[in-house]
Amino acid sequence: MPYYSDDIIEEVRSRNDIVDVIGQYVHLTKKGSSYFGLCPFHNEKTGSFSVTPSKQMYYCFGCGKGGNVFTFLQEYENMTFSEAMQTLADRAGIQLPETEMTSAQKAKSAKRDKLFEINKEAATYFYKLLYSDHGTHALEYFQGRQLEPEIMNKFGLGYSDKYSNDLYKYLQAKGYSDDLLKDSGLVTIDEVKGGRDKFWNRAMFPIFDAHSKVIAFGGRVMGEGDPKYLNSPETDIFDKSRNLYGLHLARRTRADKFILCEGYMDVIALHQAGFDNAVASLGTALTSGHANLIKRFGKDVYLSYDSDGAGKKAALRAIPILKEAGITCKVINMEPYKDPDEFIKNLGAEEYQKRIDNAENSFMFTIRMDETKFNMSDPESKTAFYKKVATRIVEFPEELERNNYIEAVASKYNVGFENLRQMVNNIGVRQGMGSRIRDDEVEPARKLKSGVQKKISKEEGMKTSQRLMLTWLVEKPELYHIIKQYISPEDFTEGIYAQVAEILFQQFEESGMANPARIVSMFAGNDEESQVAEIFNTNINGIEGQHDWEKAIKETLIRIKENSLEQRKNAMDPNDLDAYNYIITTKKKIQEMKSLKVSVT
Ligand code: CTP
Ligand code: MN
Repeated sequence: MPYYSDDIIEEVRSRNDIVDVIGQYVHLTKKGSSYFGLCPFHNEKTGSFSVTPSKQMYYCFGCGKGGNVFTFLQEYENMTFSEAMQTLADRAGIQLPETEMTSAQKAKSAKRDKLFEINKEAATYFYKLLYSDHGTHALEYFQGRQLEPEIMNKFGLGYSDKYSNDLYKYLQAKGYSDDLLKDSGLVTIDEVKGGRDKFWNRAMFPIFDAHSKVIAFGGRVMGEGDPKYLNSPETDIFDKSRNLYGLHLARRTRADKFILCEGYMDVIALHQAGFDNAVASLGTALTSGHANLIKRFGKDVYLSYDSDGAGKKAALRAIPILKEAGITCKVINMEPYKDPDEFIKNLGAEEYQKRIDNAENSFMFTIRMDETKFNMSDPESKTAFYKKVATRIVEFPEELERNNYIEAVASKYNVGFENLRQMVNNIGVRQGMGSRIRDDEVEPARKLKSGVQKKISKEEGMKTSQRLMLTWLVEKPELYHIIKQYISPEDFTEGIYAQVAEILFQQFEESGMANPARIVSMFAGNDEESQVAEIFNTNINGIEGQHDWEKAIKETLIRIKENSLEQRKNAMDPNDLDAYNYIITTKKKIQEMKSLKVSVT
């Protein structure tokens, strides 16, 4: 990956106005000093997505996503940082230094470009064939599967002819070398017989990457035949476990979950029925590569795998992989039909929507599958089933979550809450997770919940105070001279706040101005851009008029200082004289702050 200096990053950033860039994707309306629109990252009816020109940042008050122009393209277009850099540099007419690519990298990148070209040519070729005299048979096949012309176009469906080398000849005539064609996976080269096409007489499904570039194909026999589907082999541009069929369309959905299914036809049938969030893994079991891809788009999952034995097995394998990636999933029951395609053909979109609404929690699905392996009318086998369930419940790290599952299982499977809880507890202790589950910790869910909430809200309060102060500094730069007399970056005790404050204070010292969007760039790569955006977009309601403002600023200042003092005191060595002196002076300072006169305009 090319490495760019902070200066060039900042130049590209500052020459691309964030309102112009985001305005190309989101309809924005000016309100006060910011622009607002419907958030492209979550589903909402009223616009909580803000873009602020003075900060050159965006932030959604609904879902918390935020950042600068780079972050936006990375999130929305799923670009890497370098791709966002390149796009924005082009947009502003800036030439990026090209020093960092080695000649091997250049050759590789040139080859990839060629492979993209070849796949695109092939897709066009197959597409044209479908609507030519040669394609009648295939067209009838698709029509027989009830595909509308519009959806066929959207997915670029095509046909590969009965001849065994016509695509090869076509591509060869376009000037592509045998070596390159071989590496595209669309052709095999035989020493004697020459080039032969991989796909012939098949209904063709181009496979697109997230940026809508064709990277491979799936080809289906029309009618019965073996193999039913043939897929491009993996190539320099096609990695099966890092691409999902339909993703280039589904990524634009407003739904917060993807519908994950097994087949090409399932995805197409779902999109045709209005479910624009359907994707499928490509003739392979779900991998952590797929799960991470889904996570990158910020989606959770409805599993809509086939309802036969193989589909259920595949679902049981997929659930932990999704969970590991931090994705929650629910399982759609399609019985009595085999897959989404058949289901929709028979019962329609509305019924399918009902199945979505009633999708089963993946844990409850898993133990329902476990249950089939036990004889529930035999006491011993029944006990073994509960043990199995308890073993699974132990895996949840949160006490509250464990209790919620114990409760759900207890009520569904008719077993006492206390009995099951005891079993979970015993297994947990036996597995040496004594620290995870302590007896005194196992309390009724409700009691615990209120305790937890109290603790969180105090912490949250302090976080908000610190964020508010940093937001105010950016919005009212004249405050800096007052504030720096009383607090320093170390007084920001929460997470990355101290680092952010440190850079912000430095910006003020060096230029007398804040440049929050530049700070976002510094936190790129750690997925912390949204946190930085949140820090600079914190508001509280009910502050009106100068008097309120001055009071709020002063009180927040004091609260931050008191918290910081408190934390130092707790960490202090009682014999440390310097620390002792620090405490005394700070206490004095806080006293002083109480009679401070802040004035804002
Ligand atoms: N698949 C494959 N190779 C096969 C069979 C299946 O790659 N020989 C993949 C394809 O991606 C296919 C998916 O697995 O879409 C699901 O297979 P299956 O359930 O058998 O097919 P359907 O999608 O139901 O296909 P159709 O409805 O066209 O019969
Ligand atoms: Mn099917």
